[in-house]
Amino acid sequence: MVLEMESVSIKNQNIGMSLGIKTVTVIGSGTMGNGICHVFAQNGFNVHMMDINQAAMDKALATIGKNMDRQIAKGAFTEEAKTNALGCIKTYTSLEEAVKDCDLVVEAATENIDLKINIFKQLDALCPPHCILATNTSSISITRIGSHTKRPGQVIGMHFFNPVPVMKLVEVINGYATSKEVTEKTIALSKSLGKVPCAVNDYPGFISNRILMPMINEAILALQEGVADITEIDNIMKLGMAHPMGPLQLADFIGLDTCYSIMNVLHMGFGNQKYAPATLLANMVQAGYLGVKSGEGFYKYTPGSKDLVVSERFKK
Ligand code: CAA
Repeated sequence: MVLEMESVSIKNQNIGMSLGIKTVTVIGSGTMGNGICHVFAQNGFNVHMMDINQAAMDKALATIGKNMDRQIAKGAFTEEAKTNALGCIKTYTSLEEAVKDCDLVVEAATENIDLKINIFKQLDALCPPHCILATNTSSISITRIGSHTKRPGQVIGMHFFNPVPVMKLVEVINGYATSKEVTEKTIALSKSLGKVPCAVNDYPGFISNRILMPMINEAILALQEGVADITEIDNIMKLGMAHPMGPLQLADFIGLDTCYSIMNVLHMGFGNQKYAPATLLANMVQAGYLGVKSGEGFYKYTPGSKDLVVSERFKK
């Protein structure tokens, strides 16, 4: 088993090398950033984790260790492989140091267009010329981000899903100017991580959120109109459609602020009223009820408990 796992990691490293990708810088150490570092390190890449906050990166490393322990507990990983994987990750607070010798950057900073454009301008100036600049954005236009660099052909979307070590999909998003070679490399690289890449073009919400978010928004509208309660809405989708989480629980898991901002991108991008975010969603975001990350959304979360408890605000 150990040998098998080591050979998978060496094989993947070889694929990475044959693609010219050995060192990967991940910008941002939040939920998505730490999951992305986890999968690259697990597959033998040199990982440079970059964040302006060292304490956030220390927390991210602890989370990666804990998530690797889950994999060890079910026999899918070993202590030795964990030590090797964690040894592949270096942390940086200086962007210049983090990217100077990297082959690929995956940006997973906060979902804010001005922030991302600013990061990509700096990346363009600091990264080696061959380096691919990928973003894990869930809805911001890849073409727009790429247009702020002198290498739009090397800018691509590499959209991972939470929890990154578990979810198989990488949505690979081609900006209008992304080169075919960069798309092919990103697809091959995603496969080397054990993921299933699906290539799409750059339209609002891409495919994942163009379909997922209107479903979540519709569930919130149904709740707002009193068609059914939270538990009924979620159970209908869990038990009737075999979704692992109901749409309201999933909204809490993703973050209501993220759902709201993606609905706004769809609404503005298509100019169609059918994408208008539910007023209840807007109100909850404005009041700071963001779901798991703030401790309360449609459900109330207690650290250490997996019980699904409907928020008091929705009890009649
Ligand atoms: N790292 C490693 N392993 C993890 C993990 C993590 N962060 N989180 C969970 N796991 C593993 C567990 O070890 C467990 O493994 P086994 O079944 O092999 O033992 C498995 O995942 C299931 O975990 P749990 O038993 O703790 O909990 P669960 O059965 O309730 O599953 C879940 C949790 C995997 C999150 C499941 O509920 C699920 O798939 N939910 C839907 C998630 C989803 O839709 N994600 C996409 C969100 S959208 C997005 O990310 C992008 C966007 O643009 C908005």
